Amino acid sequence: MSRSLKYDIPGPDWRCSVLDVSERGWPTLFDPALSAPLELALEIGFGRGEFLLDLAAKRPETAFIGVEVSFKRVLKMARKLARSGLTNTRLLEARGELVVRDLLPPASVREIWINFSDPWPKDRHYKRRLIQSEFVANAARCLTSGGMLHVATDDVLYASQIDEVLSREPLLENTFAPERWLAEVPGRMQTGYELQWRAEGRSLHFFAYRRPSGHES
Ligand SMILES: C[S@@+](CC[C@H](N)C(=O)[O-])C[C@H]1O[C@@H](n2cnc3c(N)ncnc32)[C@H](O)[C@@H]1O
Repeated sequence: MSRSLKYDIPGPDWRCSVLDVSERGWPTLFDPALSAPLELALEIGFGRGEFLLDLAAKRPETAFIGVEVSFKRVLKMARKLARSGLTNTRLLEARGELVVRDLLPPASVREIWINFSDPWPKDRHYKRRLIQSEFVANAARCLTSGGMLHVATDDVLYASQIDEVLSREPLLENTFAPERWLAEVPGRMQTGYELQWRAEGRSLHFFAYRRPSGHES
């Protein structure tokens, strides 16, 4: 752990724990001023957090949940969030797999964003990739009718796996069809890693899948 890491939170601390969520449920963790039923949106693996901060600032009526496995990134984001004055975002240090499996009720989330999750390029590490059939099935189950799952990657082989897994999920439909993915999505905010990959000239792959109405369970 870096010695220069700052632990103080300069304002409200919007981090919550897995225990908070499982004991109290999401609605109690957000400002009651947000309209009921809560419109929930999730970013998994927010990294330095630019994308989540931008979404949360543009849509104050939506309740955002930022999920990150790294303690350090959650701490740094908690500091940024406190300074931003935004009150519609909560941060959870957890694995995305656990969150979609255990911490979100069926048909409760309007959108899920997964930007440039680690590609784990070595064959023996494929199992560590986030986008796998079981994860996608759980994520799809959490989506409301009309809810969206957005995924982006710069890695060509990971893009093929993502395409295969998403297109096989019966609860989801590809909103970019007949394209499998797009190389550009006009108007989309760029993430920290994305800026880096663009500067290196890598090709990008953006997926957007919807849970159509009539599939709630
Ligand atoms: C390559 S970075 C991308 C960060 C950011 N989304 C961006 O595009 O700039 C991947 C991030 O996902 C986080 N991460 C990796 N596996 C995760 C998991 N299973 N659940 C939640 N976060 C995860 C990592 O800690 C890291 O911050």
